[in-house]
Amino acid sequence: MITVNVKRYDPKKEESYMESYEIEQTDKMKVLDALQQINNKYNADIAYRYSCRAGQCGSCAIKINGKAKLACKAEIHDNDTLEPLDFKVIKDLIVDRSSLNDKTDNLNLYVASADAFEDMSEPAIIKPEEYTKTDLLRGCIDCYSCISMCPAIKKVDYVGPYFMRSLSEIAFDPREDASRNEDAIEAGIYYCTSCGQCTVTCPKEIDIYGKAIEKLRAQICKEKEGPLKEHKIIRQYVHDSGRSVQPTGEGKYPEGFVKAYDETHKFEEKPKIAFFTGCMIDNRLPWIAENLITILTKLGYDVDIPEEQVCCGSPLLRTGQTEIIPDLVEKNYEIFKEYDIVLTVCAGCGSTLKKNYPEYGVNLNVMDITEFLDGKLNPEDMKELDVKVTYHDPCHLVRGQGISKQPRNILNTLKGVEFIEMAKPDQCCGAGGGVKSGKPELAEALADDKVDMIEELDVDYVVTNCPFCEFNINDSLTKKNANASIINLMELIKRAYE
Ligand code: FES
Repeated sequence: MITVNVKRYDPKKEESYMESYEIEQTDKMKVLDALQQINNKYNADIAYRYSCRAGQCGSCAIKINGKAKLACKAEIHDNDTLEPLDFKVIKDLIVDRSSLNDKTDNLNLYVASADAFEDMSEPAIIKPEEYTKTDLLRGCIDCYSCISMCPAIKKVDYVGPYFMRSLSEIAFDPREDASRNEDAIEAGIYYCTSCGQCTVTCPKEIDIYGKAIEKLRAQICKEKEGPLKEHKIIRQYVHDSGRSVQPTGEGKYPEGFVKAYDETHKFEEKPKIAFFTGCMIDNRLPWIAENLITILTKLGYDVDIPEEQVCCGSPLLRTGQTEIIPDLVEKNYEIFKEYDIVLTVCAGCGSTLKKNYPEYGVNLNVMDITEFLDGKLNPEDMKELDVKVTYHDPCHLVRGQGISKQPRNILNTLKGVEFIEMAKPDQCCGAGGGVKSGKPELAEALADDKVDMIEELDVDYVVTNCPFCEFNINDSLTKKNANASIINLMELIKRAYE
């Protein structure tokens, strides 16, 4: 017997409520079958949608333990909680999709090119090779799961990933001559935080933010209709200094940690390790780099910090400013190709080096510092810290690199650290995708939600390991005069070794 919790809503009653049911679980039983069994056994009359039962029609999408999934494909487990998607509920698990249908009409999501329809006797011929730009975008089954999980859509006037995918598909359709740049800007393309929630949610595995939103942003830049002026400033910094941080007064750029560090190692034994600091650690949080070197030294590892390293390109890729990316990739490749391991301590840099560099033909052996340290720390060598902490998953670490267990393993290894999870540790804080600079009101709103979750726990620290998240969450903690502080995981480990 397993227990299944279902959120019930009857329009004749005011409030929704949770109801629990016990059912016999068969092997690999699907959620849809569980709902059927509940209705049969309890005469519960739970309302839910389905049609194809094969992951094709998209009608059965619901939230299972807070994540949008297809009920016909997801397996049921003991104590699962089933809820409707985050739209107006009609009854139980059925939501009202009519407002979304209206948006589809308003955005003119069809091929509008005059040429395609001028002479219907000779319809436009599309060769398979002409579809290469959109073949990763097709296959959407209109389940709207991505919209339900998008954090931005709940805060600002943004149409959301489903519509951005559709716009992108049309913009790159070989039959379409008309530009969709203006439509995309009006629909809020610069509100996407690149959190990747839509991509991991999509049951058809469409990389919505990477292959639709970022490609559309790049097209907008290419045709000089974007990006936002704040994004152009960052491009100028990278162009002038190789770093994405602003000059200190009179146009002079800060020297940074990397240039100041002058130790190199001969590496008589393997592995030959290099540290890719990223712009933020190099210039704004250099003590994190120092902490990392302290920790590695304690563990008996040497590390090089090559002086000529430059910005990984993440802030430019995320905002569509791709023209200088090949140059950055080439520079970093020439510097790091001789190393066995390239360590990163910034989620955005790590994700870019791992996922975007191969698109430019560069494959480095990149490891986030938490991957490297997991299993190597010995509590016997550390002192007791006596702190209560929670952990914020940076989007570009948890979804960008699939890393969530390693930082938790490390926290559980540290002596005297009481670790407690917040309600939604992997919910975006709003710092990424050029949102912190270009749409600060959204970055602030999402960070405020995060801080509310943190403050519910009465912890001393929220731990993270992304400098962008660190700054953004810290702004909200300060504004709200919160009891908790933010701390980088490297700082916490270093304290344990002091
Ligand atoms: Fe069609 Fe699930 S019933 S996708």
